Amino acid sequence: MDQCAIARGGNAKAGDEPGRREMASDVSRAVLAEGTVELPVLPRVAQRVMVLANDPDGSVTELAHVLKHDPAFAAHLLRLANSPLFAAKSPIVSITQALARLGMRQVRDFALVISMRAGVYSVAGYEADLEELFRTALVSALFAQEVARSRRLGVEEAFLAGLLHDIGEPVALRLAVEQVSKTEDPRTPAARERIWASVRELHGPIGADVVRAWTLPEPLALAALKHHQQYPLEPLTQMVAVADALTRCALLRCTCATGEAHVPDASEATMEALNLYPEDMMALVERGPELVAAAGAA
Ligand SMILES: [Fe+2]
Repeated sequence: MDQCAIARGGNAKAGDEPGRREMASDVSRAVLAEGTVELPVLPRVAQRVMVLANDPDGSVTELAHVLKHDPAFAAHLLRLANSPLFAAKSPIVSITQALARLGMRQVRDFALVISMRAGVYSVAGYEADLEELFRTALVSALFAQEVARSRRLGVEEAFLAGLLHDIGEPVALRLAVEQVSKTEDPRTPAARERIWASVRELHGPIGADVVRAWTLPEPLALAALKHHQQYPLEPLTQMVAVADALTRCALLRCTCATGEAHVPDASEATMEALNLYPEDMMALVERGPELVAAAGAA
């Protein structure tokens, strides 16, 4: 299969998310038969940041106070603030300065980046895969922001929607690995294939559960749940679906056999809903190398 075909397979192949009772893979059915799915918990500092940043009355002073009481978290936040993810024009050297320059919303977004990397994207034996999934989440977040800007739609939640839309993947991966480990070595090629098939099936609904468990806005949960549907109705989900296609293309350095870049294949309905023409998509494709580099350096 050439790279072009892989990228084109994305949304078209995934189709509508299957209902939880109609999972095709044995691993998915076994995972769901377990009953309650253990979802990752946000670290306390990130929970406080979420609450304060989403509260219209939340104060910057209080947020700074929360961050300063977790030096490791604060140090990580400063590192992100000075990374190409934010592209600061001059160095940011303190939490107070970070809050002033980034704003509460961006600090909230970075708090999630930090929490996700440490707490969600870690499954023993799958470190390299998860590093790749995390990088993909960051590139998706940056692309979602670009799509929102190009459509002159609110960029408010775009970064977060892109970041979180596949949050179900690492969780589903952990559950599938645990399930397969009961009867066989999960590291064999055959086991890995069954595990990833299950991740593809489960990541939408599980991702929506995670977003809801973290009490984030419902449109973010819907983006996680529906981003592989052919006809998503919500603009945020549509933007994420396009960002997903662009990300796949950027990371696969997607070219056709001729070596020419091709237009990433988000569903036609989604492109139409966002009023996106092939030339708009190609303009976004051209941003790919820069966004991939920014995500890699974060
Ligand atoms: Fe996905």
